[in-house]
Amino acid sequence: MKVAHAARRLVTCDAARAAAGNSLGTIEDGAIVVDGDRVDWVGSRSDIPPGIPIVDHGDVALTPGLVDAHTHACWAGSRHAEYALRMAGGDYEAIARAGGGIVSTHRAVVAATRDHLVGGLSSRLARMATLGVTTVEVKSGYGLEPDAERKQLEAINEAARDMTLPHVVPTYLALHALPPAARGERDRYVRRAADELVPQVAEAGWARFVDAYVDRDAFQVAEARLVFDAARRVGLGVRVHVGQFADIGGAELAAEVGASTVDHVEHVSADGVARLAAAGTRAVLLPTASFTLAQAPPPVRALREAGVEIVIASDANPGTAPTESLPLALCFAVRSYGVGPEEAILAATRVAAACLRHPGMSGELERGVLQTGAAADFVVWDLPHELAILQPWGVSRTRLVVREGLVIHEAKKRG
Ligand code: NIG
Ligand code: FE
Repeated sequence: MKVAHAARRLVTCDAARAAAGNSLGTIEDGAIVVDGDRVDWVGSRSDIPPGIPIVDHGDVALTPGLVDAHTHACWAGSRHAEYALRMAGGDYEAIARAGGGIVSTHRAVVAATRDHLVGGLSSRLARMATLGVTTVEVKSGYGLEPDAERKQLEAINEAARDMTLPHVVPTYLALHALPPAARGERDRYVRRAADELVPQVAEAGWARFVDAYVDRDAFQVAEARLVFDAARRVGLGVRVHVGQFADIGGAELAAEVGASTVDHVEHVSADGVARLAAAGTRAVLLPTASFTLAQAPPPVRALREAGVEIVIASDANPGTAPTESLPLALCFAVRSYGVGPEEAILAATRVAAACLRHPGMSGELERGVLQTGAAADFVVWDLPHELAILQPWGVSRTRLVVREGLVIHEAKKRG
């Protein structure tokens, strides 16, 4: 059955509706008609086709569901002690070298059952839904050893089957940190990821993308190239953690292998930026992580001026971004990165969804945009205007969150 949803500000994020002074394609007194899991019609409230029941949400903004394009939301344990150390002056990379950081979460993930991982991830996804998020990219990368990495990917795929949670796009984070068990055999570890794990992940359909952390204390360009070449051979897309602490050539590699995204990019050369632009690789910026690490912002203006499209994501993880809030990341992007408010909304809707589409895929529903034929993923905000989303509320401001036509969160009505 078709149902129309009307709102004072219908924010489509549709490029075809964008105009000078209206980059988000907002329709005042607009409506969408939802038919099953899809948007069937978009337009002015006064033009809704006859005979369709109308839910009038009133004087509020209605936007596409938010798309969080970079998370490490599948994990176990807690890093509160490490956080306290860092706030007292401890250094993130030094703590990691001493066996903390990613490797401490690795120990907790190895010890956790698959069901425990599914439960933890599902709870986080449910909380993300309350914040207006309807699509979440989730990386593995804490299992580190093959069996634990497989367990983590299975857990991500299990949580992804739950239609009452946001839509999940899984990524195999093949190179994140060298586990203690592989010390002294780094070469073998990287080759096993490339030659055995990547093909196995593709065969099982566990992930759409392969990721690697390319940085001075992580993995080198030549190592990451091995797993990315393997990914391309089996038809998986590529995302790359690049330049969080130092520029060691990750952006150039990402451009070379046709990566969908480079993520973090606090440190990137002008040549790297030019190559990203030429390759059509998008930059996923993670302001919560740089806030937590008290880092300077990435070169947002240079990226924008070169024509690299910008995505903002939460980076949800137990170390550098202990939050599940994409809206909070958007606030930081606007407050600290010089990202414009409308630019931030597109960076968490249409552009974020675009960076999660794998070029080799067909028949996927469009997301991050309200247009005919797209997934009926939308948020009715308890806010009168879309720009109010960018204020750092720190609490959920959603009234209704819908994924593929199904309500996945509804705020309790009071009064
Ligand atoms: O995106 N850069 C590497 N990975 C994560 C941090 C993971 C962790 O500290 O657990 C990030 O910031
Ligand atoms: Fe990350």
